[in-house]
Amino acid sequence: MSDLFLKHVVIAIPNADIESASIFYQAFGLNVRQGTGPMIDIYCDNIGYPSIRLVTGTEHKKLHHVQMGATATTLKKIKTKAQSQQVRLEQAPQGFEDEGLWIKDPNGILYHIIEAKDDYKVSPVPAFTINSPGNDNRLNKGALDPKSALPAVRPRRLGHALIFTPDVDSSLNFVEQIFGMRLSDRSGEVVAFTHCEGGSEHHVLAFAKSEGIGFHHASFLVATPDEVGIGGDRMFQKGYTKAWGFGRHSIGSNFFHYVADPWGSYLEYYCDMDYISDSDSWESKEWPAEDALHSWGPLPPQDFVHNYEVEIFNN
Ligand SMILES: [Fe+2]
Repeated sequence: MSDLFLKHVVIAIPNADIESASIFYQAFGLNVRQGTGPMIDIYCDNIGYPSIRLVTGTEHKKLHHVQMGATATTLKKIKTKAQSQQVRLEQAPQGFEDEGLWIKDPNGILYHIIEAKDDYKVSPVPAFTINSPGNDNRLNKGALDPKSALPAVRPRRLGHALIFTPDVDSSLNFVEQIFGMRLSDRSGEVVAFTHCEGGSEHHVLAFAKSEGIGFHHASFLVATPDEVGIGGDRMFQKGYTKAWGFGRHSIGSNFFHYVADPWGSYLEYYCDMDYISDSDSWESKEWPAEDALHSWGPLPPQDFVHNYEVEIFNN
């Protein structure tokens, strides 16, 4: 059980986008439920809290806030840190619970930290085996069922979110100083990846340079590289053709397939990410730009790191 974990990302969307958003998230393998008031909640199977929440009724899609769950002790530590560093405590936005801690990073990214237990365990799956030279592990059977018999891909849980920020350093410093998160890897001023001290996947929160804040992607764990590929393939067949994948990231090592959401941001299927159980044993690297994107795979769409939320506000 982690002391701190990413619970969900909240995105504000116009009422006109409710239907297309619901169809998109369901196609991706998630459950869409009407929440309280103007809220639409997006769940993984078997996880008792939403992984994405949509607040409807805004003029344009934009990042609303990021919610982190923390143990009582960790929440208290975060509050003490925030107060000692003169971070202003914010009021809960209208319609959201006062409980917990509402704080903004220096760039305006709003966080809500609440006391919560990360006690939803993802069911284990059989180890993914391949036959490789000298290692015949899968004997007397094929790798997959026929295409027509393959089950739908159902994401297991939310893994991480990539947030746009005008200043990667100060957004990174904030989560390091206030939340106690640790830098996993970075590439110059362009992107930084953080994990939770005490053990988490390679990245839980990541920050990418832009002209303003915004939501870039939320990433969902699936069981195997095949599920990453099948998920992407099925979304393509359903008409979600703007995508990036199948590939493997160099930073974090995960297999990936991203699918554009109705607003030009992304959801990602991923598996086999590096796991950092001991921050002091992990060597954080500075990655040159040419190595930072991926180890292999197609090139992303040209506007893959374009922050449409900024463009909207500038118009
Ligand atoms: Fe990702």
